[in-house]
Amino acid sequence: MDGKVISILGISILFLITLPYWLPPLVVKLRIFLFTKVNGEEGISIPSDRINASEFRRIYSNKSASGRSEGANLSNLFWYWLSPGAEMHQEHIENGEEYNQIASVTKAVLSISNQEIETLLQKCGAPAFSETMIKSWKIIKLRDFIMPIWVRFFYELIFGESCSKEDEKIILKHSSNVVSALKCCALRDMPTRNVLTKFLIDKLNQGKFKYDFPGNFSVEEKALYLQGVFFTTAIVQMSDAMVHTFLALSKRIDIQKDLVQNKDNARLYDNVITETLRLYPLFGIAHRITKDAIQVDDQNVKEGSVLCFNYPKYHRIGYDNPDEFIPERWNTISKGKSNYMPFGIGTNRSCPASNFSLILMKKTMSIGLNQFTFHSSVEHTRSLPNRGSCILVSKKYKLTKGKRIALLSFLKIQDQWEKVYVSISQLLFGFIMILHARNLKLTTSYYQKERYNKQKITP
Ligand code: HEM
Repeated sequence: MDGKVISILGISILFLITLPYWLPPLVVKLRIFLFTKVNGEEGISIPSDRINASEFRRIYSNKSASGRSEGANLSNLFWYWLSPGAEMHQEHIENGEEYNQIASVTKAVLSISNQEIETLLQKCGAPAFSETMIKSWKIIKLRDFIMPIWVRFFYELIFGESCSKEDEKIILKHSSNVVSALKCCALRDMPTRNVLTKFLIDKLNQGKFKYDFPGNFSVEEKALYLQGVFFTTAIVQMSDAMVHTFLALSKRIDIQKDLVQNKDNARLYDNVITETLRLYPLFGIAHRITKDAIQVDDQNVKEGSVLCFNYPKYHRIGYDNPDEFIPERWNTISKGKSNYMPFGIGTNRSCPASNFSLILMKKTMSIGLNQFTFHSSVEHTRSLPNRGSCILVSKKYKLTKGKRIALLSFLKIQDQWEKVYVSISQLLFGFIMILHARNLKLTTSYYQKERYNKQKITP
């Protein structure tokens, strides 16, 4: 081989070996650039150079920051990702009579005692964490492992009966597609989602949903409501919340031990949950459309502006080592006095399931940590494109130090290489979906139709 061939070979090998280190960050930068170009820069970001973090709560809770969807391009994208039926999703409809009716159903479903919540979770969750499933150790994707638990849990909460394997598959396929599309790891799969709508219509027609539904909603609208709030939001949010918790703990074996040895120390559990939701808030951006002008410092934010509340940014201001997972910090600082708001602001449509979710998170942690130790070396970001790769080790199995190091190294290398193709597919899928959402304009056309219908009724 002559020198030239050897140099080309050498450069090619170097290119390939270093690919996982420079390609994914480059693709992320390109993705943000393209998304902004295609989608346009819309909205006033809070906090930002213009509006500081101390204004976050005041502006969020302002009476005029009350528009939910109408009038923002961003809504077209959210409605696209949450289709079908974003117009029936409690989170996305405008304040008014229909909103109140829908919110009252959610409230009724979530009004069960703490004891009932825990009993149902024990039934639906414990079998997955049973030692019969994993006798020694196993590499898993936390999201794939945990999501079926929430499918079974919310199915039984809604319909009052156990979820069959076939029904579980229908719901799981839908929820997995929503979460994958939201993270641009897959395209939106409408046929799969429509199967769930049809399935829920059948359930409602069979009288399986026992709660009163005020108002004049059709069966299809009711099905879309259930699909959006419980078989999308509830399952996706609880899955992500637990993936973040276990993945963060998988890098702090000392805290895992502490939690197992001090089961009754509620403070320990609270600190882990608080810190998880601070560092990995489940909402990236929540937006509102102003119904009137708002005064911010010396500036006038005019009516019809889109306010974008940036949770990850807000949750990093005012903390020592803000990017580190340090549950112990909550021994000396308080949630009320910190820049911390994982469930939104009470006066402006905060999460109706905040207490409910915290009980579930605590109980799931306790079930999981009782059976397994969690280890991981993968990258942990808020959007979790790697679905949280993790090694589950049965408490009854002794993993030697050598084996642990070998497994963690394997996981790290696998994660680096996975990032190469995941980041490229995220770029591609994200671009396609943003263009598609821009074309469909689901929110804009829905409100145009609404206005047209109203004009026809009251000439
Ligand atoms: C740890 C888990 C969860 C977190 C961190 C979370 C977080 C949030 C946040 C930040 C908001 C407010 C967004 C905004 O201001 O626009 C919200 C709203 C909402 N969440 Fe959750 N959520 C969680 C679990 C759940 C669950 C389990 C359900 C369903 C049972 C749920 C249903 C809703 C609904 C329906 C809304 C809209 C409320 C309204 O507009 O009236 N969430 N959530």
